Amino acid sequence: MPTIEEDAVSRATSIKSITPPAIQARKGGEPIVCLTSYTAPMARLVDPHADLILVGDSLAMTIYGMTSTVGVTAEMMIAHGRAVAHAASHACVVVDLPFGSYEESPTQAFRTAARVMVETGCAAVKLEGGVVMAETIHFLTNRGVPVMAHIGLTPQAVNALGGYAVRGRSEEAAAAIMADAEAVTEAGAFSVVIEKTTEVLARAITHRISVPTIGIGASAACDGQILVVDDIIGLFTEFRPKFVQRYAEVAESIETAVREYSADVRARRFPRSEHVFGEARS
Ligand code: KIV
Repeated sequence: MPTIEEDAVSRATSIKSITPPAIQARKGGEPIVCLTSYTAPMARLVDPHADLILVGDSLAMTIYGMTSTVGVTAEMMIAHGRAVAHAASHACVVVDLPFGSYEESPTQAFRTAARVMVETGCAAVKLEGGVVMAETIHFLTNRGVPVMAHIGLTPQAVNALGGYAVRGRSEEAAAAIMADAEAVTEAGAFSVVIEKTTEVLARAITHRISVPTIGIGASAACDGQILVVDDIIGLFTEFRPKFVQRYAEVAESIETAVREYSADVRARRFPRSEHVFGEARS
């Protein structure tokens, strides 16, 4: 039985999936398809269709029922990151660095990122922040850690921002987000998530920077799109952001299945003879 480290090394040395440089090379080309996944069964379903799978810290809400991403730990990201990285064989797997695990210094960020990469087998990490994180992104990318940046609305800063409102509406705010985009690109990020900004700003950033922009609530002007998989399949139903399109109503199907199973058990319609081992007695 290989150790976690041996397993990660063997995965890293037999790269068969889409790599961060391959994502970066898609700038201005066919739109890049990105989705989150947090578990192996979901990753297996998403992997053949997506170019990039993000193990997002949105798992705070979708898996753990928290009200924000602030309470997520490195251990949680590693457990889910490992499940997804092991299940995916095609898409580029990126794992979010959680709040408090990287902001203090470039060395703190490197320690967390290296641990996440070694223990999960993911190809890259994502972190939130623009100009303020540029030094850290430079430090990581120069030490073998591919970084996806995340600007615009940065949910880990919800307490400082005071909510999840659209970012960059004023000229001044838009200029600050443009400066963030330029700083993270200059620092070596291989792609940049832009969350919840105006279309005009997302378009301007996409034209300005040399790496792909991946939009979430940032319009079709971006080089790619990302959404939370639980949102598009209707599994997470507590709220639906304006930028989400539902492609299925999985929560309704689960509810129906559970209701029918419960009724069958209560009425002794389940289990039936085909579910029983040995001679069934009447
Ligand atoms: O945590 C997350 O799921 C994200 C989004 C960009 C999808 O960061």
